[in-house]
Amino acid sequence: MNAKVWDPSLYDDTAAYVSRYGKDLLEEWLAPKKGETIIDLGCGTGELADRITQLGATVHGIDSSSSMVETAKAKYPNLSFEVADAKEFKVDQPVDAVFSNAALHWMTEPDPVLQSVSKSLKPGGRFIGEMGAQDNIATIIAAVNMAFVEIGQEPMPTIFPWYFPSLGEYTSLLEKHGFVVEKAVYFNRPTPLVNGAEGLKIWMQNFADPLLQPLEPEIREEVLERTIQFAEPALRDGDQWYADYVRLRFSAYKEE
Ligand code: BEZ
Repeated sequence: MNAKVWDPSLYDDTAAYVSRYGKDLLEEWLAPKKGETIIDLGCGTGELADRITQLGATVHGIDSSSSMVETAKAKYPNLSFEVADAKEFKVDQPVDAVFSNAALHWMTEPDPVLQSVSKSLKPGGRFIGEMGAQDNIATIIAAVNMAFVEIGQEPMPTIFPWYFPSLGEYTSLLEKHGFVVEKAVYFNRPTPLVNGAEGLKIWMQNFADPLLQPLEPEIREEVLERTIQFAEPALRDGDQWYADYVRLRFSAYKEE
């Protein structure tokens, strides 16, 4: 399957809700303190890294996408950003906290990621995150699948470009990597999309392109149209369309 290629302008123009939803995770769960050093893992275009700095901490944003990091550097030239793979990032000095909003589900090999996070933290350092969890976007996935079948394509790949663990699975992994899990919540968060049915198409272009890119352009367009038709009964309420997000939020710290 093709790797995800990010379009930072499309992301900033149409997916501002990603950072908006991350704000209370940042302010209430991470609660940065003055003088702390914090890594924003999967920082995207830097909105939340900037918020961490406004609260008095020093931030270092890490993202695997060079286009996202370039945009983050252009928007926030005084902040520190780096292109790095979450599986093997390194820090000069251990940090007080690692924060990650809506990024861990793109990291399909969680063990090496958790190993790197653990190595980067001081003893007692916090790891605070939110990610797509078990059954995340199940309606969208089912609708894309039906669209593939209906137009006579090979069924959609069964290996997804995402990792959506259950609460039990992820908290056990955290423990396996030496974290103490203080709090973890699994919850539905239907997420409003902008522009009606077009919003679902934009969401797919923004986030589901590893599934769609291998298709010829006309077939891709047909898959998009049919996905919208199949998803409509579950994801449309009047003029408002939603993505059927299911989230996992956790607060953990590295054992002393
Ligand atoms: C999410 O935030 O849950 C998500 C984003 C893109 C693709 C899949 C899930």
